[in-house]
Amino acid sequence: MKKKINVFLINGPNLNLLGSREPHIYGNNTLPDLIKNLIKKSEKLNISLSHIQSNAEHVLIEKIHAAKENNIDYIIINPAAFTHSSIAIRDALIAVSIPFIEVHISNIYNRENFRSHSWFSDVSEGVITGLGLEGYYWALKTISKRCKI
Ligand code: DQA
Repeated sequence: MKKKINVFLINGPNLNLLGSREPHIYGNNTLPDLIKNLIKKSEKLNISLSHIQSNAEHVLIEKIHAAKENNIDYIIINPAAFTHSSIAIRDALIAVSIPFIEVHISNIYNRENFRSHSWFSDVSEGVITGLGLEGYYWALKTISKRCKI
């Protein structure tokens, strides 16, 4: 049996409100629907997908620390508003040195100016922004290509 690629998907604050939060920006699909869909797609890509959403910075940091012991090969992270503020989450990702892709549902470059700066992009493997929920899928596709085992 081929070894599966272990991918950890991290969603930051307010993404639990997908489907009801500013649907003109984030769409109508809920987080549980998104995760269900991504798990289905992961199976076809030989990926074992785990997920966390939290509104608390320290919870996300502790989960990133644990990712090392949990043999995570790759992280996909939408840090949400922490994108623009959290050097602590950036440092955690650097500390565990697990490659990661940064995903944003909206295009952070055509919104308010303060969203144009990310503390993650320069240390990420790549950034997907503005492709809607599809962005998560493209991140999975990229990982499956890059981690051919
Ligand atoms: C977001 C963009 C952020 O600026 C915002 O704070 C979010 C979601 C996105 O997915 O488009 O909460 O990361």
